[in-house]
Amino acid sequence: MKLRAIIFFLLLISNWSNAQTVCTAESKQRLESILEALSSSSFANLSPGELNVKIGTLFLETAYVEKTLELPGEEKLVINLTGLDCTTFLETVITLTRITQKETLSFEDYEQELELIRYQNGTKKDYSSRIHYFSDWIFQNQEKGILTDITSEIGGIDYPNNPSFMSENPQFYAQLTNPMYLEKIKQDEKAIQARKYHFIPKENIEKQEKFIQPGDLIAITTPLKNLDIVHVGFAVKRNGRIHLMHASSNSKKVEISQSPISEYLKSNKSQSGILVSRLIF
Ligand SMILES: *[C@@H]1O[C@H](CO)[C@@H](O)[C@H](O)[C@H]1NC(C)=O
Ligand SMILES: *[C@@H]1O[C@H](CO)[C@@H](O)[C@H](O)[C@H]1NC(C)=O
Ligand SMILES: *[C@@H]1O[C@H](CO)[C@@H](O)[C@H](O)[C@H]1NC(C)=O
Repeated sequence: MKLRAIIFFLLLISNWSNAQTVCTAESKQRLESILEALSSSSFANLSPGELNVKIGTLFLETAYVEKTLELPGEEKLVINLTGLDCTTFLETVITLTRITQKETLSFEDYEQELELIRYQNGTKKDYSSRIHYFSDWIFQNQEKGILTDITSEIGGIDYPNNPSFMSENPQFYAQLTNPMYLEKIKQDEKAIQARKYHFIPKENIEKQEKFIQPGDLIAITTPLKNLDIVHVGFAVKRNGRIHLMHASSNSKKVEISQSPISEYLKSNKSQSGILVSRLIF
C-alpha cells in the first residue's frame, strides 16, 4: 500500500521525458488536448497560412518565457507549450500546422516534425546543430522544402546580413564555453554572411502589405550590424490591415499587435524592416 502510494506520487511529479525530449507533464497534457482537437477538426483542408492563424490563435495569452531551450548538458528536444518566446511560438505553431496537414497527429509525430524544423539537416545532434540565427532558420527550412522566402518577390531589397553576435558575445551563451561549439557557430556565421538576403525596409511595408497573406512568417530585421533578426511572428489580418501575432516580451504573453505591422515597426529604432516567408505544402 505504502509502495503503491510512493509510485503514484513519483508518477505524479515526474516530467514526461526520455533521453531525447524534455516536456513537463503540464505541457504534454496541453499538447495532447490540442492534438485531439486537431484530429477531430476538418482543418486538414485549410492552407498552411490559414492553419497558422487558427492554431496560433489557440496560444493567445500564453505566458512569454524566454530561453526555455537553454538547458545545461546534452542538447534535448524541448517541448514547452506553457511558456513561449517569439521563436518557440513560431516553431510550435508551424509544427502543429504541418502535422495537421499530414494528418499525423500523435505526440511522436509532433516530436519528429519539431526536430526537423529546429535543427540543421533536420537532425538533433548537439547544441551547435540547433539553428540559432533566424535568417539561417529561414534559409535551412527553405532547403528542406518547408517554406519559401518570398521577400524579394514582394519588393524586398538587399539586406546586408552579417550576423556575428553569438561568437562575439559567448558570455551570453552558457554552451559556448565549449570551444567546439564556438568554432561551429563561427562557421555557421560565415555561411550566413556569404548568402544573399532581402528585406522590406519599414518605410515600404505599408505599400507592400497587399502582398502579405495571413499566416505568412514575419521576421523583423535590425540596424545592428552584427545581428540578423530581432523578432518573429505571423501575419494576421485585422480590419483589412496586416498585424503581427507574436509572443511579446513587452506584454509578456502571446498577442496580436494593436497597430498594423508597419506602424508597429515605425516607432522602434531597433527594428528596420521585415523578411516574409510562406509555408509550402
Ligand atoms: C516551461 O515554461 C514554464 C512556464 O510556464 C517554465 O516555468 C518552465 O521552466 C519551462 N520549462 C522549461 C524546460 O524550460
Ligand atoms: C548538414 O548537411 C550539410 C551538407 O550536407 C553539411 O555540410 C553539414 O555539416 C550538416 N550539418 C550538420 C549539423 O550535420
Ligand atoms: C523594440 O524592438 C526590440 C527588438 O525587437 C524589442 O526587444 C523591444 O522590446 C521593442 N521595443 C518596444 C517598445 O516595443
